[in-house]
Amino acid sequence: MDKFVIYGGNYLEGELPVSGSKNTALPLMAASILADGTTVLENIPNLQDVTTFAHVLRILGASVQFDPKEHRMHIDASRVNFPEAPYELVKKMRASFYMLGALLGRAGSARVSLPGGCAWGPRPVNLHLEGMKALGAEIDLDQGYVVAKAPGGRLTGGTFALDPPSVGATINLLLAAVTARGSSRIENAAREPDVIVFGEMLQQMGAKIEGLGSTIIEIEGVDALKPITFKNTPDRIELGTFMIAAAMAGRPGDLIHISNAAPEHLGEAFVDAFARTGTKFSFGPGYVDVIPTDEIQPVSIETAVYPGFPTDLQAQWTVFMTQAKGNSRITDTIYTDRFAHIPELHRMNVNAIVVGNQVVVAGNRPIKGAYVMSTDLRGSVSLVLAGLVAEGETHVQRIYHLDRGYENLEGKLSAAGIAVQRVAYQEFPDPVNETA
Ligand code: UD1
Repeated sequence: MDKFVIYGGNYLEGELPVSGSKNTALPLMAASILADGTTVLENIPNLQDVTTFAHVLRILGASVQFDPKEHRMHIDASRVNFPEAPYELVKKMRASFYMLGALLGRAGSARVSLPGGCAWGPRPVNLHLEGMKALGAEIDLDQGYVVAKAPGGRLTGGTFALDPPSVGATINLLLAAVTARGSSRIENAAREPDVIVFGEMLQQMGAKIEGLGSTIIEIEGVDALKPITFKNTPDRIELGTFMIAAAMAGRPGDLIHISNAAPEHLGEAFVDAFARTGTKFSFGPGYVDVIPTDEIQPVSIETAVYPGFPTDLQAQWTVFMTQAKGNSRITDTIYTDRFAHIPELHRMNVNAIVVGNQVVVAGNRPIKGAYVMSTDLRGSVSLVLAGLVAEGETHVQRIYHLDRGYENLEGKLSAAGIAVQRVAYQEFPDPVNETA
């Protein structure tokens, strides 16, 4: 297994480039199987989740080639002859559940494993299933697998209201509805940029969709979609993470340039909260410049659906707030027990208490290096952020979580002045030889 060893006390400086969005790349890859032929996707990040999803597509019969240096992927979906997403892959990565909508849209039938639990509590898929039924699918459960069929080989289309406005369910329903026989309407749809960019790809493939970015999306089913070349958008969560890293670990008054970014996708709530910390920053086309302050103001946040504060940035914000000149409160209304990083942060001298779906964080406290690990992607990166400003060495273990969603993080941080190394280690020492 790999860990990061971070030697605290160096300023972050220069430039941090943002990679392509993970949460957009996965639905774009799913969309490719709706077209008979070769789709080319650009700006695809070289991440474990992308590799896993490519594997899901190969199991269906598609041929997938990925050039990780060029970040370009070719998906030939001329042949899709095994409409199944197996448990081994869906349990590893929930986004594999997108195969339900994609396969119903492409083949009129699907057998997709239910994902099961997740590191931060239950993550239901009831809206995906109820939504597919509303579009005309027959759904059964067999051995932990959802077995879905479109009577007559093609969905009829229909109307479904999401509550809450799930990102994943909106994407899954779009995948299923664009090639339905009739028209569909998704009410209380998710408005995240990931959904909009994905919908734009479907439109370029020939789908008839109206209302992307609003709460009501209307779809007129078409007979077939065509393969296209499409460029993925930059990762807004990586951008937010880098803005926090720069504000915490940069030298006060010095500019840090974050490039290849899409600042327009950050959402008002994050931008507003970031400004209230006293950190200076400016946006331009494709970049964000951050100038850290030595007087970080405490800012309490509450996560919400877009354009609210992203749940995927709350763990990082918690670490940011340990460096503020006062106490603050972080509330997660989307995933109410997404706090596995807190006990690990305690080991680094952070004073934070979880009460229900809130964390109260004490500011003004030095962070100390320690051996830590996390059980999820965003929690892991929050430990790395803590390591940037810690006294001494921080060993962030089990970084396979981090590798799911941050491309070459150690390379990017090293190039920006941080002393960090990826080191292979053994999780458990060799068992003691009892007969010796
Ligand atoms: C996506 C993101 C994830 C992010 C989350 C919220 C991907 C691959 N993942 O996950 O990084 O943290 O959005 O921004 O894009 N819900 C139900 N029933 C359902 C589906 C969802 O009740 O059938 C609830 C969830 O429990 C949660 C809320 O809806 O409280 C939002 O979840 P959702 O938007 O679906 O998250 P994901 O798409 O799984």
